Amino acid sequence: MAFIKEHYDCVARETRDERRKSRVIRLRQLNNMVKQCLLSELIGGAGDHKASNIKVLDLACGRGGDIFKLEGLGVRKYVGVDFSPERIKEAEERARALRSMAAKFVEHDCFSSSLPQDVTAEGPYDACSCQLAIHYAACDEATARTALENISASLKPGGLFVGTTVDSRVVLEKLKRVAGNTELSNSVYKLALKQPVKEELVFGNEYNFALEGVVNDCPEYLVFFDAWEKLAREYGLKLVMHANFKEFAWKHRLGRKMGELTGAEKEVFPLYCVFAFEKLPYMSRNKKLKR
Ligand SMILES: C[S@@+](CC[C@H](N)C(=O)[O-])C[C@H]1O[C@@H](n2cnc3c(N)ncnc32)[C@H](O)[C@@H]1O
Repeated sequence: MAFIKEHYDCVARETRDERRKSRVIRLRQLNNMVKQCLLSELIGGAGDHKASNIKVLDLACGRGGDIFKLEGLGVRKYVGVDFSPERIKEAEERARALRSMAAKFVEHDCFSSSLPQDVTAEGPYDACSCQLAIHYAACDEATARTALENISASLKPGGLFVGTTVDSRVVLEKLKRVAGNTELSNSVYKLALKQPVKEELVFGNEYNFALEGVVNDCPEYLVFFDAWEKLAREYGLKLVMHANFKEFAWKHRLGRKMGELTGAEKEVFPLYCVFAFEKLPYMSRNKKLKR
């Protein structure tokens, strides 16, 4: 965990110009659209259902890249947690441009330890979002359990836990087709395992991931969803949605945007999936979180 924190602290801030020139800019824009659709479908509801009065907890919030999406959905209260002080600082700076959403940021390891009082006191939350980060909690069972305990304890009954993470089904399929079964790569990304995946090991299947200009050889862990689903049940969280990015993008009419990806970006996009859990007692999946 210390290495991951250091890694995120050290990835330099990107200027607008650098972002515009990034070789994976289309992929990053499409990933953002996927997140936008996910948050909008599950948190914002559809059409005239606005998420006013909804409280959202964003675990591993990074630079606060989702705050404007949530504000746009009508969310009024937001708490973001991340263990990187540099990312929290950047998120706080960004949040100054918010107009209608109260945002607070807390520096904390949200997967290895209980959430601090200044986060829990703002709850219970209607939704907990964890974007492109739950794979860091898959290092061992104890960490996965702490993360799920934090998520479940922070949610209202009927509240949603929504996120995006690595799609291990796709990674495993692709690894089976390469010599040595340990490395996937092209000109913009590299996913490298120290040893072939041990499928009997639900946690701790570590790989290093690099995506040009975004992450540089950061350790991550495969997320075996069947096992996570079972474990989440123990914490009163029921899986209500799980789809590969490609499938989700088709459903949300992002086909044209997928078509605009470069060949190299097209190989990275399906390595991810979206998911949503609902905190029991059961609330209809179609019921909007309008309060
Ligand atoms: C790929 S970034 C995603 C950031 C943000 N959720 C987004 O989608 O833009 C992963 C983030 O997870 C954070 N992170 C990883 N492990 C964490 C932990 N145990 N506790 C808190 N933050 C963590 C990192 O500092 C980093 O900001």
